[in-house]
Amino acid sequence: MLVQHGKLPGAPDQKQSILHGFLRGWTAQEVVDLDIPQGHVQRFGETRMLVGRRGIFRSTRLQQQKSGGRGIGHRRGVYQCVAQDGSGFALTLSKKMGHSPPVRIYMDHNATTPISPEAYDAMQRWLRPGTPQNASSVHAEGRAARDAVERARDQLASVIGAQAKEVVFCAGATEANHLAVRGRPGHVITTAVEHPSVLAAVQATNCTIVPVDSRGRVSLDGIASAMTDETSLVSVLWANNETGVLQDLSAIATLCRERDVMLHVDAVQAFGRLPIDVVALGCDLATFSAHKVYGPQGAGALWIRRGVTVEPFITGGHQERGRRAGTENVAAIVGFGAACTRIPESLADQSRLARLRDQLFHGLSSHAEVHRNGDPEHCLANTLNVSFAGIEGEAMLMGLDLSGVSVSSGSACTAGSLDPSHVLLAMGVGDEAARGAVRFSLGAQTTAAEVDQTISLATEVADRMRRAA
Ligand SMILES: Cc1ncc(COP(=O)(O)O)c(C=O)c1O
Repeated sequence: MLVQHGKLPGAPDQKQSILHGFLRGWTAQEVVDLDIPQGHVQRFGETRMLVGRRGIFRSTRLQQQKSGGRGIGHRRGVYQCVAQDGSGFALTLSKKMGHSPPVRIYMDHNATTPISPEAYDAMQRWLRPGTPQNASSVHAEGRAARDAVERARDQLASVIGAQAKEVVFCAGATEANHLAVRGRPGHVITTAVEHPSVLAAVQATNCTIVPVDSRGRVSLDGIASAMTDETSLVSVLWANNETGVLQDLSAIATLCRERDVMLHVDAVQAFGRLPIDVVALGCDLATFSAHKVYGPQGAGALWIRRGVTVEPFITGGHQERGRRAGTENVAAIVGFGAACTRIPESLADQSRLARLRDQLFHGLSSHAEVHRNGDPEHCLANTLNVSFAGIEGEAMLMGLDLSGVSVSSGSACTAGSLDPSHVLLAMGVGDEAARGAVRFSLGAQTTAAEVDQTISLATEVADRMRRAA
């Protein structure tokens, strides 16, 4: 196949991605078209595999400009880049702009998402030195900060179907979960697979923890039979952060309404991945976090349905209508609001992510012995939790990390030893399989080429671990 004129077939943005990915830090002086059939590549210098953000390219330096450094990312010259399908382009690399870190594949979006340009730009104005920002002050600077916070409140409210006054900003979803759970006196019902922040918050209450089945789902009967006359709140995680498993929230909401019990939903992982309308959902309280939707860490929110009272547990000033004391973190809140403007785009991307997740699972299971954890039917599009037979998840995580892939294992480090995930244990996954669990969570920047690359790197790491065992 001849090298295409200027553009890679089927992937118009590949060339750009290459330039901004692997070859980051270099200026591409010009991109020239070559007319060289594949397999007939003129060899000068070395041949390298180029792993770009969107493809794997074999790259051959045709002409040396000036040597220096090591490897393709470090030498000036004219390179021919040929993709696996034979298409390609040539580029001339000139002066290096700075350090070029190795390309990494980030598959840990359930832990945190990289900040979006919208959030970053919006925050910058508030992080500039010499910008006072107390949104409670009545002077001009204070009023500007107040306007910015209220704008962010509108932005969040509009993407969850809420009224702005119902949104209480907190320093993250951990705090919002505590406010929801501890703010309602009485008996609380929750599930065994909640985020640790909810499980910690219910410790301060009279609570019942309902089990889940082997697929990670809680039964309606389980919740119904735990209800007593004292029950004031049911708190349920909509989408599990470790497995991506979704609970049947509309059925749970109906049950709560019938029994006149409030429903709190931890919607942190569902946000931006499932359409959310808190009113249609039928819940009373819902938790959100900025850094799971390409916003900054340290900003979260509790939606409190109008008419519902929640006892604040952080007391002092009268911020957030007396529901959460403390000077608002204007920059983080503004970043949260700006990140919300990307939610429609993120929702539209979910079917692509589901295809990539399935591609990942099929690739992994055809090369390595893996078992999928969690209900595959009721699951977030971006999340895949698998156990590698006979291998510690933590060892896989470290092996993948060294190979350039970022993932999470379900294990938590407690007092120097690794405890298997409480979520997997609650699902009845055996101790060994739970210790072998790895979570891959995809996001807006994940590409099919990255998934392929992850499959081959994970297979390599797993083979190496097994041989070493
Ligand atoms: C489901 C869920 N709830 C709550 C939290 C806590 O969020 P934050 O980091 O904003 O405190 C997380 C974070 O991982 C989460 O995944």
